[in-house]
Amino acid sequence: MTVRRSVVRGCGAYLPKTILTNNDLAKRVDTSDEWIVQRTGISQRHIAADGEFTSDLGLASAKAALADAGLDAGDIDLIVVATSTPDYTFPATAVTIQAALGITNGAAFDLQAVCTGFVYALTVADQMLSSGLHERALVIGAETFSRILDWEDRGTCVLFGDGAGALVLESVAVDDGNGIDDRGVLAARLRADGRHCDKLYVDGGPSRTQTVGHLRMEGREVFKHAVTMIAEVVDDLMDATGLTADEIDWFVPHQANRRIIDGSARKLGLSPEKVVITVDRHANTSAASIPLALSEAVGDGRIKQGDLVMLEAMGGGFTWGAVLLRW
Ligand code: ACO
Repeated sequence: MTVRRSVVRGCGAYLPKTILTNNDLAKRVDTSDEWIVQRTGISQRHIAADGEFTSDLGLASAKAALADAGLDAGDIDLIVVATSTPDYTFPATAVTIQAALGITNGAAFDLQAVCTGFVYALTVADQMLSSGLHERALVIGAETFSRILDWEDRGTCVLFGDGAGALVLESVAVDDGNGIDDRGVLAARLRADGRHCDKLYVDGGPSRTQTVGHLRMEGREVFKHAVTMIAEVVDDLMDATGLTADEIDWFVPHQANRRIIDGSARKLGLSPEKVVITVDRHANTSAASIPLALSEAVGDGRIKQGDLVMLEAMGGGFTWGAVLLRW
């Protein structure tokens, strides 16, 4: 029997040039490098320049992913952009990127699941490719969270950064699919529980306030739920696929906070050397953090073709989820 798999053909990333260190932040709010590093593992973050927008970051990452894949923009017939910081309320940032790439066919849309956005976008794109609806997709996570931060709130402004990452996926027909041995997206789980919507949110929006608003968070509450939710969804995926932690080659978590990442890996029994960490240099780039981390680990030769990779994320909503893929 023939099955279709969404296989990763390439990946790319983009980080804005300006770096804001913890010491830079300590000049603006009552904080210190020591406090931020100890509680979060973050040392610095990248900040988009004036006039540099989410679509610009996403476009740069998309071009890098296309170059890595050895494909032209015209080969793409689906663009999904995961973002909570779009250029405009509408049209979608995805169509701005589509136009800048010179693509006029296929579909392009944004998807918003906050920090879980990339896991949601990858899952949706995989379904659209494996059903045969589209051939090749750009799945992009792009954010300018610096634009929705309250720079006087030391409890949140130290945690986030700007950036973008992208994957090129291709729908490939596999004769007699070998399940877990195939390349491509193998399984996914998506979750949401809106009862927690007031624990991490932005206090503005077109319908309620006609403003953009600022990010608000009950940090302790988020922290309390994060490890449990992440471990539950990854465990579910491992049970469903019959895998053990030892069989996972790379764990690429959403980069929210070093303590959440370490706690999740410990709970799942994943050894620290399998965990890809970028939060120290990128901070939390929301939907961009996973493709940024993937690009880094592929670029430096850690993740290789054939490796089994587990992605996971948790964020506002709450939303959370995991994707298992063979690179
Ligand atoms: N510098 C110095 N002191 C600070 C800072 C700061 N940047 N921020 C808060 N404090 C102070 C508080 O005012 C408080 O002071 P007080 O005791 O005098 O009132 C004290 O530190 C403790 O504050 P808490 O909020 O209780 O600190 P906590 O130990 O919980 O750490 C943190 C805060 C780092 C936000 C933690 O709760 C956390 O990591 N939560 C997870 C949140 C997260 O990662 N969110 C990202 C988005 S969600 C996601 O992507 C999964």
